[in-house]
Amino acid sequence: MKKNESFNCAYANILVTGGAGFIGSNFIRYLFGRSAFKGRIINYDKLTYAGNTASLKDVAGKYGTDRYSFIKGDICDCGKVLRALKKYAVDAIVHFAAESHVDRSIFGPKDFIETNVHGSFSMLEAARNYWNGRKDVRFHHISTDEVYGSLGRTGAFSETTPYDPRSPYSASKASSDHIARSYYHTYGLPVTLSNCSNNYGPYHYPEKLIPLLILNALAGKPLPVYGDGLNVRDWLYVEDHCGAIWEILGKGRPGESYNVGGNCEKKNIDVVRAVCGGLESVRPSAGNSALKGRKYSDLITFVKDRPGHDRRYAVDASKIRRELGWKPAHNFENGLKSTIDWYLENSAWLAAIKETSYSGWLKKNYLLRK
Ligand code: NAD
Ligand code: DAU
Repeated sequence: MKKNESFNCAYANILVTGGAGFIGSNFIRYLFGRSAFKGRIINYDKLTYAGNTASLKDVAGKYGTDRYSFIKGDICDCGKVLRALKKYAVDAIVHFAAESHVDRSIFGPKDFIETNVHGSFSMLEAARNYWNGRKDVRFHHISTDEVYGSLGRTGAFSETTPYDPRSPYSASKASSDHIARSYYHTYGLPVTLSNCSNNYGPYHYPEKLIPLLILNALAGKPLPVYGDGLNVRDWLYVEDHCGAIWEILGKGRPGESYNVGGNCEKKNIDVVRAVCGGLESVRPSAGNSALKGRKYSDLITFVKDRPGHDRRYAVDASKIRRELGWKPAHNFENGLKSTIDWYLENSAWLAAIKETSYSGWLKKNYLLRK
């Protein structure tokens, strides 16, 4: 067994929703990397703008015939989910699928309510119906630290912090958390939850802060900083998040929630400066014709703030550390370096995204922030 595998995976057929997205695709790759996991993964994904089968091309090529299946489907389609559960004798569900971008939830909350609330409800119903009281199964619901609201200068979210969501995105996630928990208490469905902070790393859709900064900097475009840039987020390298989910699947107690964080609070402006510095060291602006003699940091542009912008998030992840022995393996410096290197080496993945509706969204977002 590899060093971090302190248990044998009890599940043979794991259905991952949203497996074509950022964290889901990293999680599928992570799972196939565990020697303790010998089973099949069924990736159930609607392929919205954020879903991309290219993110799993290597996995599909290597495991496609016997250990990996992809189903294009909507989590709101309970019947289709149920058929997939039956067909593959699924014994664990890891539910990532969601509309995930706060800015988009501000411009158009409907899809967030549909997918995050109705879709999660539909997943839970399909699981309850198919498993019919079994206890040797698991429904793991992926959630966010944003359900807890906004912090002042001190303190950190623990699992007992009252929910106080403040954007349509976080409200929809909070709602699905409550529904998931209710299925444990009411029907005994073996549900676990995790509430994680800001992830970053490979395959991150470039509407989110870090990949957007990398992309814009390389193209000599403005690096938009919302408001005064002093909002604080806790950053976690995506592979560490995957490791936490793996530990919860293996050893987490049904009915419990686990906070997951990087113990890595940063002001947004410091993240922006770190990305500029990281790029200068591997792809100096002096040699980049798009920069026209400017440094990457010259592109930093303060723009109108996000409405209802939560000021500070910080995560107390002591429960998962104490109970399951999980802690992050990456720090921000090496995680960011790996991320920048990955984007520089994977320009084809990015180019394909740029051909989609991506630029339309950016234009809309940017104009609204002027
Ligand atoms: P993402 O936007 O990159 O990917 C979402 C995936 O879900 C996409 O592949 C998309 O096609 C799929 N999807 C969307 N609607 C669907 C539907 N109706 N039916 C089936 N598939 C659908 O998101 P992400 O950043 O990978 O986030 C994954 C999960 O983790 C979400 O639940 C999110 O709330 C949570 N989360 C994310 C972060 C973060 O920093 N990214 C932090 C904490 C929690
Ligand atoms: O905290 C966990 C959450 O982290 C997840 O639940 C969400 O799915 C995920 O998208 C992320 O939400 P954020 O809103 O924190 O991520 P985003 O990358 O959009 O923004 C990070 C911070 O940077 C936030 O304070 C807003 C700011 N920002 C963002 C963008 C896109 C900017 O200043 N400029 C930008 O261009």
